[in-house]
Amino acid sequence: MIPTRTLGPDGPTLSALGFGCMGMSEFYGPSDDAESRRVLEAAVEAGIQMFDTADTYGLGHNERLLAPLIAAHGARICVATKFGIAREPGQYARSINNQPDYIRRACDASRARLGVDTIDLYYCHRRDPAVPIETLMETLAALVAKDKVRAIGLSEVSADTLRRAAAIHPVAAVQSEYSLWSREPERGLLDACRELGTTLVAYSPLGRGFLTGTLASTDALAEDDFRRRSPRFADAAMAHNRRLVAALGDFAAARGATPAQIALAWLVGKQPNVIPIPGTRKISRLQENLAGAALTLSATEIAELDALFDPAAVAGERYPEAGWAGIERT
Ligand SMILES: NC(=O)c1ccc[n+]([C@@H]2O[C@H](COP(=O)([O-])OP(=O)(O)OC[C@H]3O[C@@H](n4cnc5c(N)ncnc54)[C@H](OP(=O)(O)O)[C@@H]3O)[C@@H](O)[C@H]2O)c1
Repeated sequence: MIPTRTLGPDGPTLSALGFGCMGMSEFYGPSDDAESRRVLEAAVEAGIQMFDTADTYGLGHNERLLAPLIAAHGARICVATKFGIAREPGQYARSINNQPDYIRRACDASRARLGVDTIDLYYCHRRDPAVPIETLMETLAALVAKDKVRAIGLSEVSADTLRRAAAIHPVAAVQSEYSLWSREPERGLLDACRELGTTLVAYSPLGRGFLTGTLASTDALAEDDFRRRSPRFADAAMAHNRRLVAALGDFAAARGATPAQIALAWLVGKQPNVIPIPGTRKISRLQENLAGAALTLSATEIAELDALFDPAAVAGERYPEAGWAGIERT
């Protein structure tokens, strides 16, 4: 059985495993829309409720992909989308925009693409330091008052920003990169989330595929695959980090599980208020990941994995220079 989580201080109860849709539109090589839709349907049938997208994923493609799923199952699922990253087609370079007018336009555009009156969970994808967090939250609270948004989220913010934001309006979720090899939320953000009743949505919980042990190098990846430009996947860092994944593989084999399953079981078992949102374009991997979230690790096993993936043991930054825009580093 997969445990459940309450979304934010007073939101709905959701399955503790969500689904990340980003890779169905870009960043990890080509995908097939018809197959993606089959995977999404299978995810709903298996009981997954939180589906994660953003206006920037495929510049609208990802939100449009989700529209039929929402039309069919809207009442059973919680769809989260995001605003704030502006990019040109085919470009990774981005600018960050949290201006009120921009947010109001982005919200209406996302509602139209998703085919909904109300967005279940609307995240600020990246913080624009030109706009105070209080102004941002007031803008979002006004969208809640108009029923255009049900709950507010922030992504990649510091504990301090979260506290200031929650003083204006409840923050249902903070989405940050969190996995065995990305442990920054443990430096204060998770504590702030627990204190405020905010859910921590863990993105890239499988380390963008690396923690599954199936990615030996970037050679076979598409030219525009994000991992080709990530310092963590550069040759020297990969050679170093492969040792960690090999040890994770041994740990998993001893439990009769796969590395992906242990990576997800660690997140669900370690924290009471975390929802990981792994992404996949394959039904077999969806089933594998579901079984991982249902695995129970002992406190000793969690501590063993904590030590194995000590942050000092991981080589390479998680973003290239351009990707740090709007991320509040802690
Ligand atoms: N807020 C933010 O700034 C932010 C940033 C990044 C991502 N996100 C969200 O987080 C979601 C998940 O993160 P992510 O997609 O970056 O990374 P992830 O879930 O850590 O990894 C996805 C990669 O792992 C592969 N994979 C999945 N399950 C597998 C398994 N059991 N065995 C082997 N390989 C497996 C997928 O390949 P296949 O598809 O080929 O199976 C894909 O390449 C995204 O979809 C997006 O919604 C948010």
